[in-house]
Amino acid sequence: MGWWFLMTLVILQWNARSLIANGQEFKKYVPELIDRPHVICVQETWLKPQLEFVMYGYTSIRKDRETGKGGGVATFIKNGIRYKLISKGIDNESVVIRVWSGESSIKVVNFYNPCSRLNTDILESVCGSMQGKIVVCGDFNTHSTLWGSNDADNNGSVVEEFIDDKELVCINDGKGTRYNSSSNTESAIDLTLVSNEIAGISTWEVKDRSTVGSDHYPIITRIGIEVQQDSEVNIPRWKLDKADWQAFQEMSETKCMELLNKNITNVEEMNDEIVNSIIQIAEETIPKSRGNKRKKSVPWWDESCRKAVKSRNKAFGQLKAHHTIETLINYKRVQAIVRKMIRSAKRTHWREFCNKIGNETQLSDIWRVIRRMSGVGQSVEIPVLCSNNQCHVMNERLEPEVSRDELINSFSSVLTIFATLSDFATSH
Ligand SMILES: *[C@@H]1O[C@H](CO)[C@@H](O)[C@H](O)[C@H]1NC(C)=O
Ligand SMILES: *[C@@H]1O[C@H](CO)[C@@H](O)[C@H](O)[C@H]1NC(C)=O
Ligand SMILES: *[C@@H]1O[C@H](CO)[C@@H](O)[C@H](O)[C@H]1NC(C)=O
Ligand SMILES: *[C@@H]1O[C@H](CO)[C@@H](O)[C@H](O)[C@H]1NC(C)=O
Ligand SMILES: *[C@@H]1O[C@H](CO)[C@@H](O)[C@H](O)[C@H]1NC(C)=O
Repeated sequence: MGWWFLMTLVILQWNARSLIANGQEFKKYVPELIDRPHVICVQETWLKPQLEFVMYGYTSIRKDRETGKGGGVATFIKNGIRYKLISKGIDNESVVIRVWSGESSIKVVNFYNPCSRLNTDILESVCGSMQGKIVVCGDFNTHSTLWGSNDADNNGSVVEEFIDDKELVCINDGKGTRYNSSSNTESAIDLTLVSNEIAGISTWEVKDRSTVGSDHYPIITRIGIEVQQDSEVNIPRWKLDKADWQAFQEMSETKCMELLNKNITNVEEMNDEIVNSIIQIAEETIPKSRGNKRKKSVPWWDESCRKAVKSRNKAFGQLKAHHTIETLINYKRVQAIVRKMIRSAKRTHWREFCNKIGNETQLSDIWRVIRRMSGVGQSVEIPVLCSNNQCHVMNERLEPEVSRDELINSFSSVLTIFATLSDFATSH
């Protein structure tokens, strides 16, 4: 795998006020940005663990609010970016990741403060070590003249103190980030804090043309540092139907025995051995295709959705320019239409597909559509399971605490999956 370097890390942050309500429009919004963000920090996802939310081309790490309404954060990382999960909040809503940049790395903290009393201990425990480069973005729900509020509150002073203490810089430019449509006022409560050393190479921009259905604007932070991205933007896929499954199985079994006889007790070492073996055997027995070209992120998005969003954005501009009861009602009305249109386009697409299912529809087609309906798309990444210095892309489920037995188990379940696939492939 070759890596190339992007010269600017692009981070998008946004309080979604529900990805259930506004997530579909957001899925369409992101790919249309001129700079596709490398990291997306969403607050107030309102998602629950049993609810999938997939952004095409991104891996997600979520900290859902498990009890009670609202809340929750999710960090999305563009495929091909080297990253590692550092922590998810415990009793707080945060996700902390590290993204590799050149020889060093940058920590990206996604934080949501649900209007509760802040203190510096909470902020410290969320951010962890402050060594090296760091970006903290989130909805802090605090006021201070430092970031453009007219007033200040104690919680704001806490953040100020934290900024001072940790030698951070608030790169907000004073613009409002949340729009109150009843009072036609904006408030600055979404903050971006960066470490001193990168403040000079960071820019901050509120995308205030639309709130994408929320009442907060998306915010783009650009940091002028090198970021590594896998050069194979079109991620290749294993051609499972062309694989030599017999060879795969034989080689795997041999390797499995070999590893067991080695009697490795160190989990890290075992992990490396297993991962390397699987990849090596797969490389030898399964051909790969070039990745597909970029697919539509939301296949059901149609002209009616586009028109609805366009007229909603127009109504939003009118509301901000002339705040009257008429423009307010109009804005709320067209916002409701957007949600209805999107829901109905999705439903119609699904119905049409179901009607087409006949005796000649391939099972694989059905799965393809189901995946695309949820926005997954086809180019599911070949799992990158490496560890140590080799490769820092970690699968969320592959946290370092797994035991040797679990690894052996997962190895054999991978074998079972491949074996099943091989049965399937040979019987067709
Ligand atoms: C917040 O979550 C972090 C894990 O990211 C944990 O270490 C910390 O103790 C939590 N802080 C509070 C105040 O709950
Ligand atoms: C901080 O937030 C809490 C919860 O909203 C609130 O009770 C408290 O008054 C706030 N502190 C100040 C003085 O702004
Ligand atoms: C929006 O402004 C109105 C009128 O000033 C106020 O009553 C309301 O609390 C504000 N909404 C929020 C969520 O801040
Ligand atoms: C593996 O090593 C451990 C300790 O080094 C030993 O107790 C055990 O019997 C060994 N198992 C095998 C299968 O060789
Ligand atoms: C499937 O459809 C074709 C043509 O539509 C028809 O000739 C065939 O009998 C059908 N097969 C079954 C099993 O229904």
